[in-house]
Amino acid sequence: MIEPRPQLEGISMYSPGKPIEELQREKGLTKILKMASNENPFGCSPLAEEAIREEMKEMTRYPETTSPALALKLAARLGISSDQLIFGNGSDEIIRLLTRSYINQGDEVVMASVTFPRYKTNVLIEGGIPVEVGMKNGTHDLDGLLRAITNETKMVFVCNPNNPTGTIVERQALKDFIEQVPSNVLLVMDEAYYEYADSKEYLETLSLLDDYPNMVILRTFSKVYGLAALRIGYGMMHPGIVHQLRKVKDPFNVNRLAEAAASASLEDEAFLIETIAENREGRRYLTRHFEDMGLDYFTTQTNFIMVDVGFPAEKVYEELLNAGIIIRPGHLMGYPTMIRVTIGQDEENESFIRELRQILNMEVLPVKEERGG
Ligand SMILES: Cc1ncc(COP(=O)(O)O)c(C=O)c1O
Repeated sequence: MIEPRPQLEGISMYSPGKPIEELQREKGLTKILKMASNENPFGCSPLAEEAIREEMKEMTRYPETTSPALALKLAARLGISSDQLIFGNGSDEIIRLLTRSYINQGDEVVMASVTFPRYKTNVLIEGGIPVEVGMKNGTHDLDGLLRAITNETKMVFVCNPNNPTGTIVERQALKDFIEQVPSNVLLVMDEAYYEYADSKEYLETLSLLDDYPNMVILRTFSKVYGLAALRIGYGMMHPGIVHQLRKVKDPFNVNRLAEAAASASLEDEAFLIETIAENREGRRYLTRHFEDMGLDYFTTQTNFIMVDVGFPAEKVYEELLNAGIIIRPGHLMGYPTMIRVTIGQDEENESFIRELRQILNMEVLPVKEERGG
């Protein structure tokens, strides 16, 4: 056997939410609800679909390497300069470009535990050292993150709102934190769920970008825009960082269909407003039921909720799979009795609650009074 790089030892493949096709094969079910990967249950803008059909005429041509037309359009919307933007094959790719470009063997990278797993994996691939700081009540411990910064620290990740807990950090605390992160440490704010956050406590970090040239903000078209399959996300940062990342990225990392759909999606404000409103309703419906069932949950600012079902998450996950509902069990994320469910359409939310209620009363599981933590 040819030896791989030693950094790869101990790194496992990303474990995604179970695909619908896989569950269909396994259980022979016809109706499956996927409430596992925080996709948009309301689809995408019809303008995006139309733009994709149109762009298919250009399928034989490579795209431009830096999506300049989309960059100009998005930059104008965001009130930044287009040279502060980089697009990626999903924001996943930008996370990788950042670690590829900035992390040397032995560099420390500070992040919360538990947060989006790709930060840690990409740091390990580069031979960096992930320094994980425990959460406080499902929320980033900003003081803890600051204390974990040493002379060896090269990068800090803050996922806001956080995946998998859905929580945000408070405005003033985050402002103070950003101020205190040393200027030679790259601060990566992952805002994949930005559009869903409606709390007064949610800080608009973009307004601080020019003041903090060490800050990078990541967002995506995969979530509220409903374009997860096309793979397109973006990062906002100092042009000097964009310049470095562009050296590392693949030449045609963002495909034409993704560019066209993203560009068209920016024209459809109504779709966004509708999705956000529906999600807010779904959030209310689910939390109302969780409260009624006496289940604790983290306050979410996203399109998913983490709820404590009081039983081993794997068991509840398996039972939901039997009912054709795919969610994410928390034991994979350090929360052994919690599950993460993506807020769906009304009918999906109702089916989920119906099945969950049944499962929690099933005989195979201990009765309610005996439930442990
Ligand atoms: C916090 C966070 N960041 C980044 C991503 C990656 O998104 P994408 O690569 O689809 O843009 C996700 C996807 O689930 C996420 O939850």
